Amino acid sequence: MNKKSYYITTPIYYPSGKPHMGHAYSSIIADVIARFKRLDGYNVYFLTGTDEHGLKIQREAEKNKKDTQQFCDELSSKFRDLTKVLNLSNNDFIRTTEKRHYKSVEDLWNKLVNSGDIYLDKYKGWYSVSDEAYYESNEVEEKNGSKVSILSGSKVEWVEEESFFFKLSAWSEKLLQHYNANPDFILPISRNNEVKKFVEKGLKDLSISRTSFSWGIPVPKNQKHIIYVWLDALTNYLSALNYPDTSSKLYKEYWPADLHVIGKDILRFHAIYWPAFLMAAKLPLPKRIFGHGWILSDDKKMSKSIGNILDPLDIIKNYGIDQLRYYLIKEVSLGNDGNVSLENLKNCINNDLANNYGNLCQRVFAFLKKNCGNKIPKSDSLSNKDKALTNKLKNDITKLSELINHQNLNIYIKKVIEYSFDSNKYFNDSEPWALKKSNPKQMNAVMYSIVEQIKNISILLLPIIPNSANSVLDIINVNKDLRVISEINKNDGLTHDKELGEIKILFKKVD
Ligand code: ME8
Ligand code: MG
Repeated sequence: MNKKSYYITTPIYYPSGKPHMGHAYSSIIADVIARFKRLDGYNVYFLTGTDEHGLKIQREAEKNKKDTQQFCDELSSKFRDLTKVLNLSNNDFIRTTEKRHYKSVEDLWNKLVNSGDIYLDKYKGWYSVSDEAYYESNEVEEKNGSKVSILSGSKVEWVEEESFFFKLSAWSEKLLQHYNANPDFILPISRNNEVKKFVEKGLKDLSISRTSFSWGIPVPKNQKHIIYVWLDALTNYLSALNYPDTSSKLYKEYWPADLHVIGKDILRFHAIYWPAFLMAAKLPLPKRIFGHGWILSDDKKMSKSIGNILDPLDIIKNYGIDQLRYYLIKEVSLGNDGNVSLENLKNCINNDLANNYGNLCQRVFAFLKKNCGNKIPKSDSLSNKDKALTNKLKNDITKLSELINHQNLNIYIKKVIEYSFDSNKYFNDSEPWALKKSNPKQMNAVMYSIVEQIKNISILLLPIIPNSANSVLDIINVNKDLRVISEINKNDGLTHDKELGEIKILFKKVD
């Protein structure tokens, strides 16, 4: 049988500075979902990359006295390096300065011309280079003597130049129909309402080319105009699937995308402009856009201009990548803003990883080594209490996969760590050390059950802490092919005739 396919993307980041925790956060969210879907039997394609055109990048390169392409090469490679450090399982890394992307953007542009959705006029209004966004007069305010966007707080400048426009106004009704017919198109629900309200007020046509700078993709047959960087950037999701070759294997298998993971700052582009472009080009729309909240530090958005950035590389060096992944997913309720701090990170490492899951594995493996010949005992006499331990998790599998499908990652993780907590309690209450003399058969039943539970918990933790969960599965000799969700519902799946692998400390306590 053909596996079902699943296409998931992160935003493509501006390589205008070093990657920070916010970028790491979006990428880790997408990676956790991608890994879970693979474990759940899907053919997953996971895309990330960098967004390299536009005035923002051109100016940043000038500021650094670098050739623009060279500047992009250097910074884009920092983002590519980060994918390795974060242990992302992305299938591709796209750069908008690549040939394959030009082809795709030019084709989409031509489709919009042919459908009659583009016309030439003059743009007069506000523009934020930092957001690469146009703002209406009523979206701009005066602050400390300069004009800024009310939405993002970033500086805007007045622009007057010849420009091509996209007839966005003609798509308001169709967009609203789509939102209403597909209540899960934009999640979480608060973002959905925000977008609908904005569209209900009526949309203005959108300027989609600039003539005052050169760093970007020229409009086909009109080289004076550079295509608006957001039309350029959004198309990356298609370029990576070999669009415009719609008969290519990748395009056929993966378009439309199942999930665009983005931050709430770029909702308007993804939930309004992008579907309007696609409808005009008669291409299928992505199935879902999830706009997550901000990572805050001291209750403020982490950003370069505020200077409150926690460097993901420092944290990973000092505490470990699984620790960071676990912490971000557990502590920040996806969709809401969430504070991060070193203090909380350390508590999370100690409480959940070292004292809970880590301790469970460590004490169970030590017990097996000392009392069971360093092997997992077999058992054919499980009591109801033993069965109850593993059955609870097994019965929850559908619910757990629903949680991931609705991007409720932090509830998922809380449930999984609860199984681990319950297993520690079961180990204490069952007192296998006492059973060794009084009832060795029952000791085997307890140890068998608890190792099966460790196996299942570890499979469920694989998407979040892949390194550590895989080491645990290595220790108990679980075959690599059997580290999947469907194995959880099968009985046993344990190797009984082989000694456990070498036990290392999984999570060091930190202070
Ligand atoms: O907007 N908390 O790129 P960008 C959480 N190139 N997430 C954060 C964050 C924070 N403090 N800061 C950044 C762009 N992010 C465009 C995207 S897509 C076709 C083009 C994350 O480098 C979040 O996902 O400014 C946000 O949407 C994204 O980084 C913005 O990255
Ligand atoms: Mg930004």
